[in-house]
Order: sequence, then structure tokens, then C-alpha cells
Amino acid sequence: MTFTADCLLLFGATGDLAQRMLLPSLCALDADKLVAPDLKIVGTARHAYDDEGFRQFAREALERFLPEDRKPAIEPFLARLHYQALDANETDHFADLAAKVGPIERGLSIFLSTAPGLFEPTIAGLVASGLAGEKTRIGLEKPLGTDLATSRHINDAVSSAFPEDRIFRIDHYLGKETVQNLLALRFANIMFEPLWNAAHIDHVQITVAETVGLEGRVGFYDGAGALRDMVQNHMLQLLALVAMEPPSSFNATAVRDEKVKVLRSLRAVERDETVTGQYRAGAISGQAVPGYDQELGQDSDTETFVAIKAHVDNWRWKGVPFYLRTGKRLYERTTEIVVQFRPVPHSIFAGRGARTEPNKLVIGIQPQENISLSLMAKVPGLDRGGIRLREVPLDIRMADAFAGPKRRIAYERLLLDLIEGDQTLFVRRDEVEAQWEWIDAIRATWAEHTIRPKSYTAGSWGPSAAIALAERDGVTWHE
Ligand code: BG6
Repeated sequence: MTFTADCLLLFGATGDLAQRMLLPSLCALDADKLVAPDLKIVGTARHAYDDEGFRQFAREALERFLPEDRKPAIEPFLARLHYQALDANETDHFADLAAKVGPIERGLSIFLSTAPGLFEPTIAGLVASGLAGEKTRIGLEKPLGTDLATSRHINDAVSSAFPEDRIFRIDHYLGKETVQNLLALRFANIMFEPLWNAAHIDHVQITVAETVGLEGRVGFYDGAGALRDMVQNHMLQLLALVAMEPPSSFNATAVRDEKVKVLRSLRAVERDETVTGQYRAGAISGQAVPGYDQELGQDSDTETFVAIKAHVDNWRWKGVPFYLRTGKRLYERTTEIVVQFRPVPHSIFAGRGARTEPNKLVIGIQPQENISLSLMAKVPGLDRGGIRLREVPLDIRMADAFAGPKRRIAYERLLLDLIEGDQTLFVRRDEVEAQWEWIDAIRATWAEHTIRPKSYTAGSWGPSAAIALAERDGVTWHE
């Protein structure tokens, strides 16, 4: 393995993401010796810490968010950490930051986990202080804009200082094991690809259900809503991976070329092909939870749930709907993709009173990493003059199939790729912009028809209209 950065510079180092994900991921990479022994990690934010103060801050976060068996790794990891306080709007603060980073020999990887409003001044400061040189690559955490225009604005600012092959836009879903496994399933096996098209697939369902509510992100979430928070990025990336043509190799250009073709083939959604919702007080696993407006402290028209019937207008997917749904405070936390195959063209068992159900492939992404293919099988027994058939699952539980290797959280993979410069699991500019274009059109339709979210009870599967959206096509959401 080659180590390509001698410093990782973290903007937003005292933020929530840094505490919950970035510092724990870096500590785990360090413990497993996956980063160079001399990789220096410099954190920066407004807070006036010195190195020791930041180490103490990191120690507390790691104690809180690392699993017990990882905790012995904390103390050795802290020695790598350094800190420079900085106000991104003050360009001259960046000279001190550059001094803290020190000389760059192999490379500098920068990760911006800050409010998008700080992207532009940060880029200007990096350029002015010489930190945006040829050996620097930059990782950007979402949200990258709130619509196509603002996203373009950010992309223009970043690309004024960095070429595309040094810009790493994060969608943490791409770092999840089972999401990458989807590519292995599709392209490392012969049996799925010949069936992976409109001739054999009836429809696809993608569900990202969460039980959490606002989680203290009041200001951000109310201005975003489920469509922009989850569909614009994570769900469209999942859809693209399911629908894309086989890339010629597993490299950044080939994979992203195929994804962007899918994103550009998305048909504009009709008014009656979306349902939005907002949760009211209810209960999750027997625990009472407040409604969205109560959590927010005011009325709001922001959607916390969205269901969409999407279409990919190309040869492969002609006539195959992709049903997407995501929401907060739903019945359970589940991310899964369901590929529903068509029925057999003729059932030889029909005359004997036996029904054949179409096959279904369920790819569980979280919390369980399972792949399950439902097949029809004969129920054992001597059925006079007939035969009984039943669906049985062919199940792979990843945790059992791969009991040895450690499960990695998404940011471990993505931070390692950022440090080493592999863009395959990062989102290219044309992808982000194609995603925004489709999302903007949906929002324009909502605005034009003054569509307001329907209420649903926390702990349910969303508004009944979402069930009806599928049922009117004879489709039942997988639960
Ligand atoms: C983030 C969203 O991108 O993804 C959050 O902003 C959401 O609202 C989160 O909760 C879900 O991520 P995960 O990995 O828990 O499914």
C-alpha cells in the first residue's frame, strides 16, 4: 500500500461529524496501521484550543463514540493530533494554519466539514496561504448547495482552485460495505446481469427508513427536508448503482461515467408520483416521541418523509418503476433495495392449484447486511393430485459469511481513500449537478401545485398516500 499524504487537515474539527465519525474513523485506521506512521492530522475550527486542548476534546469524543475494544488505541492516536484555531473569513489566519501544517512532501489531504457558506472563504484562504498547491486534494462534506444554482456556485469556487481529479465529494453511503457489495453482486456474478433489465424485472424499491427525528439539527433540517437531505444524494446514488450499465473496470472514471448516464436518464416526476409527509407525535419501539412541529417549536411545511415513483428512461429500464421512500421517525431503521422480478411466463403448476410468486432479491444495507433471494420451492409431502409451492429465502448474512474481517464504518473507507487519492467512491461534479436538476424539478412541481406534507404518526411507515402510490400499480412496499 502506498501512502500519499503526509498531512490530513480537518476543517470543522470540533463539529458533530468530527466527534461522531471522523475522529473515531481515523483512530481505527491508525490502530490498524492503515495510515502512514508519520501522517500528521491537523484540526481547525473557530474554537480557541491549543494542541493539548484539542487532544483532550478528541479524547472525550473517542471515549464516547468508539466501541469498547477500540479504546486502547486512543492514547497513541492522540499524539498525531495538532490544532490551529481559525476564522475562515479571515484570510490572514491561514498563514498560521500553513505553518502548523508544515512542509508538504508527499501530499496534503483536506477535508471540509463546515457550513457550506464557509467553503468559498476557505478556498480563498487556502489559495492565499499556498495550501492549495498541486499536491493538495480536497474532500467536501454535504450539503453541497441547496439547489442546482447554489451547487454550481460552490463547484465553481472549488474548481477555481482545484482540478476535478483532486476534488472528493463525499456521499457517505458510497463508503458503506453493502453498497459496494451491490457492485460485487451485480458484476462479479454471471447470474444477475442477464436478468437485470425490463424484460425480467417488474420494479425496484429503495427504502431508507430512520427512527430518529431532528436530532438537534433544527436549523439545517428545516431548511432542507427529506428530499434534499436524503434523496438528492444517498438515494439517487443507490438508484444509480442499481441501474447503471456495467463499467469497464472498477475505477473512478469508468464507474462515475456509468452512474451519470443513469442520473441524466431520470424522467421528470409527475405531480401524482410523489407523496410528502411530516410526522406527528407517536411512539417508536414503545417510546413516546413528539411531533416534528413540537421538536421544532413552530409550524413548518418541511417534509420529513418522501415517496417517489421514479423512471429511468433508457433501453434497459423502459417501463420499470423505481419506488423510493425515505423518512424520519418511521417504524424501524432500515435501508434496503428490493429487486422484484417478473412472474414466470407460464406456470406449469397452475392446473394443480399451486401459485408461483415472482422471485425477489432483497439487499439489506443496514442495520442488517443481508442479501436474500426468494425462490419458489415444493413444500415436502404427498399432496394427492396436486403440489404445494412456497417461497423460501436463499439468505446470505454478511456477518456470518465474513465472520473474520472487521466491519468498517463508511468514513474509515472514505477517509482512507481521501488520504490515498482514490476517487472511485466519491461523487463527480456532473453527477451532483444531474442529481440537483432532477430534484429541483420535483420541488418546482410541489411549489406550482402548493403541495404540503401529509401527516403521519411517528412510528408508522409514513402517510397512507405513500402506500397508495405503490398499491395503485399493484405493488406492496416490502416490510
Ligand atoms: C445524512 C443526513 O446525510 O444521513 C441525515 O443528513 C441522516 O439526516 C443520515 O440521518 C443517515 O445516515 P446513516 O448512515 O445513518 O443511514
